[in-house]
Amino acid sequence: MHVLNGILIVLMATLALGALFVLYCRWRYPEPHLNWSEIDIESIKFPADFLWGAATAAHQIEGGLHNNWSEFEDSRGLERSGEACDHWNRWQEDFEMLSELGLTTYRFSIEWSRLEPEAGEWDSEPLQAYSDMVDNLISRGIRPVVTLHHFSHPAWWEDRGGFAKKENLPHFVAYCERVFEALSDRVEVWCTINEPIVFSSMGYTLGQFPPGHRSIWQTLRTMRNLMRAHSELYVSLKSRKPDACIGMAKNVTLFDPLNRWSPVDWAVARMLEWLWSGAWLGGIRTGRMLGSRISGSKGSLDFIGLNYYTHFLTGLFMPTTGELSFAKRENEVLTEFGYPMYAEGFKRAIDLVSALDVPIEITENGVADSKDVLRPDHLRRHLWILSEAIGEGHDIKSFHHWSLMDNFEWAEGYSMRFGLYEVDFETQERTLRKSGELYRKIVKEHMKI
Ligand code: FCB
Repeated sequence: MHVLNGILIVLMATLALGALFVLYCRWRYPEPHLNWSEIDIESIKFPADFLWGAATAAHQIEGGLHNNWSEFEDSRGLERSGEACDHWNRWQEDFEMLSELGLTTYRFSIEWSRLEPEAGEWDSEPLQAYSDMVDNLISRGIRPVVTLHHFSHPAWWEDRGGFAKKENLPHFVAYCERVFEALSDRVEVWCTINEPIVFSSMGYTLGQFPPGHRSIWQTLRTMRNLMRAHSELYVSLKSRKPDACIGMAKNVTLFDPLNRWSPVDWAVARMLEWLWSGAWLGGIRTGRMLGSRISGSKGSLDFIGLNYYTHFLTGLFMPTTGELSFAKRENEVLTEFGYPMYAEGFKRAIDLVSALDVPIEITENGVADSKDVLRPDHLRRHLWILSEAIGEGHDIKSFHHWSLMDNFEWAEGYSMRFGLYEVDFETQERTLRKSGELYRKIVKEHMKI
């Protein structure tokens, strides 16, 4: 009898605690959904000095690369990046497209494997080409934003363990310093590392990116090393040029519980959001990450780059291998990537990174939509949210649409089409999409300088 009473009390207490936890989470982490049919998405306002742009990354557009990714494509039998957009040979024409859209900022990345194809063997020609790109952009009135690491690095460095090994970081820092020395007389805004959490979780937990490992310990180690690399770079680059503007591009994916009444779904959602974003923002604010002190990380940002795409609905039974399949709310539309379009989350992501108290650059936002049926609404809704956020006082400097043109979408190969320009990969012909025309029109209407 006593035992039964005891069990009953424990059960009731657990239920009560679970209910309290759910009530607290529902109050603390609302998940707004707007009735878009009642919103005038065309009514948007941007400051006179707001910068309009597009973003790309070297491995996704340049073509002809040999690096960690090309090796992974081969070893996994993935679609090969191959010639990609052949941008390395066509960058002048591609920059003409930026001008055609009337853009004033362009984010692109440097391919380390071109500069240092073998350990310690440097090739100066590619760096000159990047330097020419910078000059060309500036001559067009377009601000260059340079990313030093966007998922790809030399194969030799991957063979040594890449970011999973702390002793490898000096190679990476040396490469970045070399690029900075060559370009920082003209490039003011720098992203050290693109989406470190995507890199570490896809490469070391889910195994979908190189090196294709599946280990929580390696993931945590890589996360810390990425933070170390960023912090070391921040300190080093600032000492070379104190007025340089150094930040990182942070993917903010929101995690919401599949069932808003389930304490388990809430617990999973909160834990994942903490690992995905909290640990990084905490690292910058406190100088500590995942139990380690990270030298130089406290305050190591002059701006935060925000990459926003969606929210994930989480529960106990989440896929951990193969193709991710995503849940959606009843009122949401799925994008071609499989995740829902959730523009309301853009505001939540902005609020989240605002805790860092530095200016925000929207370094990526866009949608996979080969038929260009969703992109116009996607663009309008996200720009509406952005305009509201700026109206509320958020210090947001720019918007970079992902992407300028269709390109190699990592593990998905060429199946996902994110471009304002459609690319025919047989002929390399670029064609402006309807949504590209819309973006051009919006940019023109809101450009005041
Ligand atoms: C982001 C990546 C970018 C691109 C978009 C769709 O996570 O930074 O390279 O693949 O997703």
